[in-house]
This record gives sequence, structure tokens and C-alpha cells, in this order.
Amino acid sequence: VRPIRALIRGTQSVGEMQLDRPVDLGGGDEMAALAEAFNAMQRRLKTALDEVRSLTHVLEERVKERTAQLEAAQKQLIQNDRMVSLGQLAASVAHEINNPIAGVLNFSVLMERLLQDDGIPKARVEDFRDYLRSITEETTHVGRIVSDLLSFSRRPAYMRMAADLNCIVKQTAALVAHKLELAGIELRQQLDPELPKVPCDGGQVQQVVINLLMNAAEASPVGGVVEVTTNRSEDQAILIVRDSGVGISAEQLPHIFEPFYTTKENGKGVGLGLWVVYGIVQAHGGKVEVASDEGNGTTFRVLCPLNVEQASQEARS
Ligand SMILES: Nc1ncnc2c1ncn2[C@@H]1O[C@H](COP(=O)(O)OP(=O)(O)OP(=O)(O)O)[C@@H](O)[C@H]1O
Ligand SMILES: [Mg+2]
Repeated sequence: VRPIRALIRGTQSVGEMQLDRPVDLGGGDEMAALAEAFNAMQRRLKTALDEVRSLTHVLEERVKERTAQLEAAQKQLIQNDRMVSLGQLAASVAHEINNPIAGVLNFSVLMERLLQDDGIPKARVEDFRDYLRSITEETTHVGRIVSDLLSFSRRPAYMRMAADLNCIVKQTAALVAHKLELAGIELRQQLDPELPKVPCDGGQVQQVVINLLMNAAEASPVGGVVEVTTNRSEDQAILIVRDSGVGISAEQLPHIFEPFYTTKENGKGVGLGLWVVYGIVQAHGGKVEVASDEGNGTTFRVLCPLNVEQASQEARS
């Protein structure tokens, strides 16, 4: 039985994947042949196992390599995307500023022609005044573009302080109240008294509220209602501005956050309002959501993290 016991031990070793223990069964030719066959099987098993292991290793390396390549490609893509949007922005800014400046130039040439040595001929005074008015309008337009761009580019210098969002909303509502009243629009406020302080730059958040309220008012008919709501969901403060105005069509919706995108005719809108909103909210680690039912109104929701750590992490990513 001794060789049988040795064979059993050998089989057990193989069962435990110990493949470097050849058996020696001693005894006659037949036993030696059995031992050799067993050991050969063990060796083949070991070779196969080693191959599988090295293949797995190679595969792991491949996956790592590929992941790194993909990550690099993705970074590159994001970078390209930024470059493209920066390029587009520069082009649109140049375009948007060039038009009014060309206008101003044109009007000043006309005014120079009107001006005689002894002043402006009586009959042309009204024209002269029109040109001046146009110059004022055009330069105001350029001024707005520049101040919107500045408010956006100052983004990194945000002061994060625990601010009372309800208070910001109330102050902003008071600022625009007169304008809305003139337009025949009712402003309703539903502010959550339990809302905790929000880590933010109060001035910038005010800018967000103003832009959303003005858009809502501009989209509303006389007698329309604009409702501003604050509340909280888990670790986020929520600001909602809802109107029952014209709404946004499915074709327009993907573009509304683009710089200089406006559907407002003859210089009424610059098209930077929502772009500024988006940038400010992004820098606070928050999100802007919009839902619109064409013809029945629009709802903008701004979500802002209540936790400073989370806010700066989201803003960086
Ligand atoms: N509440 C809303 N209801 C309907 N359309 C809206 C609303 N808010 C934004 N829009 C659409 O999105 C466009 C872009 O808005 P945005 O505030 O960026 O620019 P604007 O209001 O046209 O000009 P600006 O705000 O610079 O004076 C608007 O022209 C309008 O078409
Ligand atoms: Mg606007």
C-alpha cells in the first residue's frame, strides 16, 4: 500500500494546486511508469497554470495601459472643448462689440457733417439729437457687454461666506419690484424659513436672482405672475424661479446658456444673462436646471451645495 499512499498524497497536493511535488512510488516498472505519468500530468498542469497567470498579468497591464490612454484622450477632449468655446467666445465678443462701435463711428461722422461753423442748422437739430441718442444706446449696449464679461471673469475671486439666501432674494426682489410693477407683473415669494445659510458670494448670487427674475418678467404677458421659491433638499439649497410666460421652444432650449444667444429683438437683450448665471452657479459647485412648456411658462431651478467642502470640490471638477 505504500505506493498507493504516496499516490494519494500526490493527488491531494495537486488538488491543493501544489504542482511542484513529483511523486516517487518506488517498486517495479509499472509503478515507475505510473509515477512518471502522474508527474508528467503535474508538469503540464503547472505549465498551463503559469501560462494562465502570465496571460492574466499581461491582460491587467493592457487594461491599465488602455485606461491611461483613454483618460489622456478624454483630458485632451475637454481641453479642446474649452479652447473651442473660448475661441468662439472671443469671436462673438469681437462681433458683438464691433457692431455698435461701427454704429457710433457712423453717427459721429454724420454729426460732424451737420456741424457748421456757427452751430447746427435749426432744421437739423432733431437729426443731430437722434444721432446722439443712438450713440448713447450703442455705447450703453457695449457697456453692458463689458460689465457682464467682467462679472464673469472675476469668478475665481469669489468670497464664500455663509449667506442668507432668503435675504438675498428679498433684497433682489425689492430692487426689481418697480420694474415688474411697471410691466404689470406680480412677483410672489415663497421662502423656506428653515433654510440654512448657504456658503456663497452674496453679490454674485444676487446677480443670478436678478437675471432669472428679469428673464421671467420679460417672458411674461401683462398680468403675468412670477414666483420665486427657496427650499432645501438634503444637502442642497434650491432656488426656483417660475413664470407663466411664453416658454422656450425645443430648438431654442439647447442654446439659452450660450453667450450672446438672445431671442429678444432690436437690442433688448445682450444674451449674456443666462451665461453669467451658469458660470456663477458652476463656480459655486451648483447646477442650473430648466424645464419649459412652450406657451405655458418656464421654471429655472438652481441647486447649490450647503456644504463648503463639497461646493469647492464640485466647482473644481
Ligand atoms: N424665463 C424665460 N422664458 C422664456 N425664455 C427665456 C427665459 N429665460 C431665458 N429665455 C430665453 O433664453 C434667451 C437667453 O437668455 P439670456 O438671459 O441669456 O439673454 P437675454 O435675456 O436675451 O439678454 P440679457 O439677459 O443679456 O439682457 C432669451 O433671449 C430667451 O429666448
Ligand atoms: Mg436675460
